[in-house]
Amino acid sequence: MSNVAAAPRRDAIDLYRPEALRDPYPLYAELRARGPVTHEPERDIWLVPGHAEAAAVLRDHRRFVSGDGATYESALGRTERYPLIETDPPEHTRIRRAVQPPFARAEIEQLRPGIESAAAAIVGQALAHGEVDAVPALAQPMPDRAMAMLTGLTPPSCQALVDWSDAVVRAQEPAADPRHTELLLEALTWLGADGIPGLPAHCLGRLIMDGGSTGGLDPEGPERLMTLASIWLAGVDSTGALLGNAIDAFVEQPDQWELLRARPDLVPNAVEELLRFEAPFRVFYRRTRDEAEVGGVAIPAGATVCAVLGSTGRDPRQFADPDRLDVTRENARTHLALGTSIHLCLGAPLARMEATSMLTELTRRVQRFERTGDAVRSPSGTMRKFDALPVRLVAA
Ligand code: HEM
Repeated sequence: MSNVAAAPRRDAIDLYRPEALRDPYPLYAELRARGPVTHEPERDIWLVPGHAEAAAVLRDHRRFVSGDGATYESALGRTERYPLIETDPPEHTRIRRAVQPPFARAEIEQLRPGIESAAAAIVGQALAHGEVDAVPALAQPMPDRAMAMLTGLTPPSCQALVDWSDAVVRAQEPAADPRHTELLLEALTWLGADGIPGLPAHCLGRLIMDGGSTGGLDPEGPERLMTLASIWLAGVDSTGALLGNAIDAFVEQPDQWELLRARPDLVPNAVEELLRFEAPFRVFYRRTRDEAEVGGVAIPAGATVCAVLGSTGRDPRQFADPDRLDVTRENARTHLALGTSIHLCLGAPLARMEATSMLTELTRRVQRFERTGDAVRSPSGTMRKFDALPVRLVAA
C-alpha cells in the first residue's frame, strides 16, 4: 500500500446539496474529472464516481463490506439491520440462498400474465384520462401490483406502500427527517399486525415467514420479518422511479420514442439504457475495515465509501456519448444500476419484466407524450425520481 498516492483534498463537493439533487450530472462530471476517488471532508465520505472503479468496489465484498451499512448512515449504532443488503458472507449467503428460488427466471416468468394484464389496465386507465400525473397514474401502480403478486401482501393503499418504500431509503440519508423513521415503523407495524397474518398459503411472504426454502432463516428474533420487509419495500420506489424517469426521458427525446414504437423488439434494451441513463439509486455505500485502494488511491480503514451509481452510467470511458439516451446502445446492459456481484439486485428479473411490460403496452397505445406542466424532482438524496410528472398521452 505504500506506493499509492493519498487522495487529493480539494474544494468540498456535496452530492446532497439541492441543486445537485435536481440535476446531478454536471457534478458527477466534475467528480470524475477530479480523479478515481474524491474525499469529501465535510461528511467524511470517499466518493467513487467512475464505472470501472465503482464496479471494483462493489465486487470486492471482502475489503468493502456491507455489514456496517450500505447507506450514508452507518448501521453500527442500530439494533436492526436489513438482512440482505446490510450483511456480508457467510450470513448474507445463508439468507440469500433461503430466499433465492422464487426469484429464479422460470419462477418470475409465471408472474408474466398478471404483470402484462396489470400493464394493460394501468395504461388503459391513464389513456382514458388523457392528461395525467404520470407518477401516480403510470409509474407507481405497476410495482404496487407486482409486489402484491410476488409477496402476497396487499397494503392498505398504493400511496401507503409508496410512502413506506420512500421512507425506508430516506431514513438513512444525511439530515433524515424523523417522519421517515415514523413511516418505517408504521410499515413494520402493519406488516406484523395485518400483512403477515393475512398472507395466502403460497407466496414469497409465507415462504420467508416459514424460514425460507432452505429453512435457514432464523426462527427467533426479527430476521424473517426484516427479510420480508426489506425485499417488499426495495421493490416499490425503485421500479416506480425507473418508470417515471423513463417517461420523462421520452418526453425529452421523442425521436427515441418513435424509434421504440417502430422497433418494439428494442424494448428490453431500452429498459437497460434507461437504467444506465438515470440510475434510480444514485448511490450505495460500503465501509472499509482495513486500508484499501481504489484506482491507485489509498482509502483508510474505517472509511465510508460511496459508489456513485448515477455517475457510473454517464462515464464516457464506459459509454460513448453518455448524456444521450440511445435505445440501440450495444453495451447498455453493462450499467451498474442494479448493482453487481453478491449483492446484485435480487428483484432484477421482476423489475425488468415490469418495465418491459409497461413500455411494450405504451408503445402499442401511445403515439407520444407531451408535457403539460412542470415536472417536480423528489428531494430524495438516494432515489432519482419524480414527485410529479404532468403529461398528456396522445393515443396511437
Ligand atoms: C428498477 C428497479 C430496481 C433497482 C434500480 C434496484 C437496484 C438495486 C441495487 C443497485 C442493488 C444493490 C445494492 C448494493 O450493492 O448494496 C439492489 C439490491 C437488492 N434489490 Fe433491487 N432494485 C430494483 C428493484 C428491486 C425489486 C423489484 C426487488 C424485490 C422484488 C428488489 C430487491 C432487492 C434486494 C432484496 C436487494 C439486496 C440484495 C443483496 O444484498 O443480496 N429490487 N437493488
